[in-house]
Amino acid sequence: MSEKQSPDFTATAKSAMKLAGTILPASGMKVAGVLTLLGFLVTATESKVYTRCKLAKIFSRAGLDNYGGFSLGNWICMAYYESHYNTTAQTILEDGSVDYGIFQINSFTWCRHAKLQEKNHCHVACSALVTDDLTDAIICAKKIVKETEGMNYWQGWKKNCEGKDVSEWKKGCWRGETKLYF
Ligand SMILES: *[C@@H]1O[C@H](CO)[C@@H](O)[C@H](O)[C@H]1NC(C)=O
Repeated sequence: MSEKQSPDFTATAKSAMKLAGTILPASGMKVAGVLTLLGFLVTATESKVYTRCKLAKIFSRAGLDNYGGFSLGNWICMAYYESHYNTTAQTILEDGSVDYGIFQINSFTWCRHAKLQEKNHCHVACSALVTDDLTDAIICAKKIVKETEGMNYWQGWKKNCEGKDVSEWKKGCWRGETKLYF
């Protein structure tokens, strides 16, 4: 299949480049500059994957333990099944909306996507939900719990964490199992 497609692909790319050269004769340098800049940005925003216990500490400090009545284990379990703790995880859904970040928060209702006009209930750019600083993602997750009355928003949580003994998820993260911050 790829053998058959690649000549077409190359031809398309070549004609696209020709077209660009015809329409934008002097802007080749600009395009190259933009591509270099984009490459730099992609490198600079390398994906960050947290460890379970590092997340436990961040979540705990941010007041997620028992937020909305959901213990810390619920949050860690949910983040695992939604994103595998990958802060840059992005999933494009069939309706064209995108799930962003460690909590896979959807652009249709909760954040502001670059192009589309969405509800943006969290008053935040979706891009702020895919950084290693989890502040905005946590604020937005709290809002989701409040506005939707629970954690049912997260399918990963419903399928794998709801009704389970989720205390396992924070096990070993605190010395002597009492909360010590270090
Ligand atoms: C994290 O997610 C990003 C975006 O989907 C992906 O490119 C990257 O490979 C993931 N990192 C890991 C370690 O899975």
